[in-house]
Amino acid sequence: MKKIIIAIDGYSACGKSSTAKAVAKALNYNYIDTGAMYRCVTLYFLENHIELTNPKLIAKALDEIEITFHINEKTGANETYLNGLNVEDKIREMEISQNVSQVSAIKEVRVALVSQQQKMGKSKGVVLDGRDIGTVVFADADLKIFMNADFDVRAERRQKELFDKDNLVNLDIVKENLRKRDKIDSTREESPLKKAEDAIDVDTTHFTLEEQVEEIVQLALGKMSV
Ligand code: DC
Repeated sequence: MKKIIIAIDGYSACGKSSTAKAVAKALNYNYIDTGAMYRCVTLYFLENHIELTNPKLIAKALDEIEITFHINEKTGANETYLNGLNVEDKIREMEISQNVSQVSAIKEVRVALVSQQQKMGKSKGVVLDGRDIGTVVFADADLKIFMNADFDVRAERRQKELFDKDNLVNLDIVKENLRKRDKIDSTREESPLKKAEDAIDVDTTHFTLEEQVEEIVQLALGKMSV
């Protein structure tokens, strides 16, 4: 079967990562969580007090950042490492969510991460999820999905995800964060979130994870067999 590139884009908290992870597992493909990469840069900038308006400091910081993904042998989960340290839990905290859209709107940050993502995915057999995968990173991806879900459902899912990691966050705060990120992510100048013309819409409001995974796996198998 032909190896393909699967691009999954969409708004925050509509199930992209869980779906992309499960699709990759079902097809025995690699999974690249591009949102985690923007979160790592945000964590590094916050910890090192990098001014977001200082291009020189930003360029220097980007040179110092190495992001890798490793499979946790005990759980089988794909975890994110920043300069050799496991930051998987840290990058999901609210403080990062509250700053990541501003950091990911910076041109130098996008240029650096897009180039890394293109290297990581070039041998195909890969599922990437993000905001600009089907429009910029792999505009020629074999299968493009654009995911969305009802706003309240997204907020509840994100709150549960945080709760499962021992972070109890008020639903109104989660909603406010999602609203803000939707706005910044889709109106920024540098590669804003938008549906690629040839992307297939998948609305996950009334879908279970298994159903949305199955739908995308079937679409992928269709592309892999031609
Ligand atoms: O998917 P996520 O919520 O972990 O993404 C975090 C932020 O990173 C999101 O608010 C926008 C940004 N992002 C991006 O600009 N481009 C991507 N390919 C992935 C994420």
